[in-house]
Amino acid sequence: MKYFIVTYGCQMNVHESEKIAGILEQLGYKECKKREEADIIVFNTCAIREGAEERVLGNVGNLKRLKKQNKDLIIVVCGCMTQKEETAKNLMKKFPFIDIVIGTFNLPKLASYIEKVKEGRQLEILQEGELDEILPYKRSDKDNAWVNIMQGCNNFCTYCIVPYVRGREKSRKEENILNEIKEIIKEGKYKKITLLGQNVNSYGKDLEKPVSFAKLLSDICALDGDFKLSFMTSHPKDLTSEVIDVIAKEDKIEKYIHLPAQSGNNRILALMNRRYTRERYLEIIDEIRKKIPNCRITSDFIVGFPSETEQEFEDTMSLIEKVQFDSIFAFMYSKREGTVASKMEEQISDKEKHLRVNKLLKLEKQIQKETGKR
Ligand code: 5AD
Ligand code: SF4
Repeated sequence: MKYFIVTYGCQMNVHESEKIAGILEQLGYKECKKREEADIIVFNTCAIREGAEERVLGNVGNLKRLKKQNKDLIIVVCGCMTQKEETAKNLMKKFPFIDIVIGTFNLPKLASYIEKVKEGRQLEILQEGELDEILPYKRSDKDNAWVNIMQGCNNFCTYCIVPYVRGREKSRKEENILNEIKEIIKEGKYKKITLLGQNVNSYGKDLEKPVSFAKLLSDICALDGDFKLSFMTSHPKDLTSEVIDVIAKEDKIEKYIHLPAQSGNNRILALMNRRYTRERYLEIIDEIRKKIPNCRITSDFIVGFPSETEQEFEDTMSLIEKVQFDSIFAFMYSKREGTVASKMEEQISDKEKHLRVNKLLKLEKQIQKETGKR
């Protein structure tokens, strides 16, 4: 019995696919290289932008042919897109050959859905779930081990679907994280360990006995072993001086921070509910550069947020010019049903969004050429 997993979206999803692989291997499946050879195909989906959803729909649609050739083929769709109940139901209706559609909180029950598939098609979307501590992983990267430290997000940036599909912030117990990392070190295969969370800087605030992210980093660095530690993603409003100090001090921590700014204009930042200003963002960058002179800094930007004027977009350009990031990711704003921004008037045209994103990427190329950064 063979499995094939198709993963869309961020590193969290990549890591979640490692869990899916672990569950399938426990059931006796082995990984295969082509979907044509598989007995079970899993689509682990992403909902962050419309484009990601369209790709999923196209690729799931193409499976009809395989299902015709092999009636016993099991097709599973899971991940952020399926956590939206409406979308999940539509998927079932539109693609009658899908066997299992489950939401993000259902993953721990994947094995039982597969066992039940002979009884009929499975559709279940839990609204909340416990963090799973006992799932097996099949790590997919030979140098890097991903370690999830928390799930969900409490920030409700007005454009973002994540808090709706991943729920509120839930931190794993520090002890469990440290034990997982000790195991990774013991295995001796991985040079790098990367901590994952939507907003790693607010790690531990929700625990019965709160632990700060800075303490978690120090405690991991105190473990014996030869590894480099990094983490993503940081939110500027929660990145504390303590965390910057720990990165500066600890040799084991990679000198790299991904710090999404999203916009360089204060009115847009407020509309996005980011809870920092351009000035505060620049202050943090200054602090990082002073304390960690060789630190690589990267960022995310959204262009064409509802009502963003040309002048306000220019503020984003000037922020990028000022900071001289090592690299940036630029996204055209994508309307996500159910978010606050989707109801805002003055949505920007696709044409304008394209113009702005291209301008931004051109600036980024020019900076990289001038500074020799990659
Ligand atoms: N439209 C465009 N980009 C988005 N991002 C999140 N939501 C949206 C959206 N609705 C971007 C942000 C975030 C990155 C992971 O994706 O820049 O940092
Ligand atoms: Fe989305 Fe904002 Fe949470 Fe990041 S911090 S996941 S952009 S809501």
